[in-house]
Amino acid sequence: MKDFIAGLPKCELHLHIEGTLEPELKFELAGRNGIELPCSSVEELRAAYTFDDLPSFLKIYYEGMQVLRTEPDFYDLAMAYLRKAAEQNVRYAEIFFDPQAHTSRGVPFDLVIRGLRRALMDAEAQLGVRAQLIMCFLRDFQAEYAMATLLESLPYKEWIAGVGLDSDEKGNPPAKFAAVYDRARQEGYLLTMHCDVDQDDAVEHIRQAVEDIGVNRIDHGVNILEDQRLVEVVLERGMGLTCCPISNGYVTDSMKAEGIRKLMDLGVRVTVNSDDPAYFAGYVQENLEALQDALQLSREELAQLERNAFEITWLPRHVKDAYL
Ligand code: HPA
Ligand code: ZN
Repeated sequence: MKDFIAGLPKCELHLHIEGTLEPELKFELAGRNGIELPCSSVEELRAAYTFDDLPSFLKIYYEGMQVLRTEPDFYDLAMAYLRKAAEQNVRYAEIFFDPQAHTSRGVPFDLVIRGLRRALMDAEAQLGVRAQLIMCFLRDFQAEYAMATLLESLPYKEWIAGVGLDSDEKGNPPAKFAAVYDRARQEGYLLTMHCDVDQDDAVEHIRQAVEDIGVNRIDHGVNILEDQRLVEVVLERGMGLTCCPISNGYVTDSMKAEGIRKLMDLGVRVTVNSDDPAYFAGYVQENLEALQDALQLSREELAQLERNAFEITWLPRHVKDAYL
């Protein structure tokens, strides 16, 4: 089965590029930028990755990305991920980036997006992996800052497929960003947002995302199973969910494999993704293996998960069809 999963053409739809920063590259960038890290070895750094919920993970995630300063840093970060993706037979990826995690510490938006974009272009030419960017707003910052970031992104619109919403969900419901999402839609961006697993008011957040904001898909969203009516809306609209089993196991008490199974059985376009693979120790292949292990998925079911993913990509129909 491992070989079957390895050979399967894959699609990654829930991946934070800053969450692919492996300790080795972190040390390299720290050295290049003259930054002193609190740990002296890769092993020590990895051992310090201790978290058991979303806020404790986010603290380490934001600390880690302080080493990203220059355009080549962002290029190297994305290129390292795309090389890994190519090794795992990922054919297409939609990649989140968090501009506010950089602009808020004085790193210009322009430099971030140019580095990422250049890597995407080189990866397509050199590795045959195609990818697009999704710009995420940090929901624990004010909505006004998200709006300013949206406006700042407009000159680069051709390089951004859509917008997302991530970071700490507690007390930061989708409704807080209704005006930002309205404007993003007007500007032609496609829309997604995190509804993280087992958060306070999880179902109400999913309801707002689906019914009030009108997102095109949901990141995580497993708690939708608690509301039959919302499941029906998602089925009717053919909406996709980007689930991340190994990540779930880190920030909640389980991978939520049974929930993912239920969503598959209901016919929801559920997909398997890696979220922050450098921190959760698993790229998309390891996530598929973990889920297969838990659920004894058949080859046909594994193939269906990838068909779901290609189907819900933000690619034009004819490009999508070439993957299916
Ligand atoms: N949830 C919310 N925000 C994030 C995550 C996540 O899993 N990863 C990076 N930012
Ligand atoms: Zn995520």
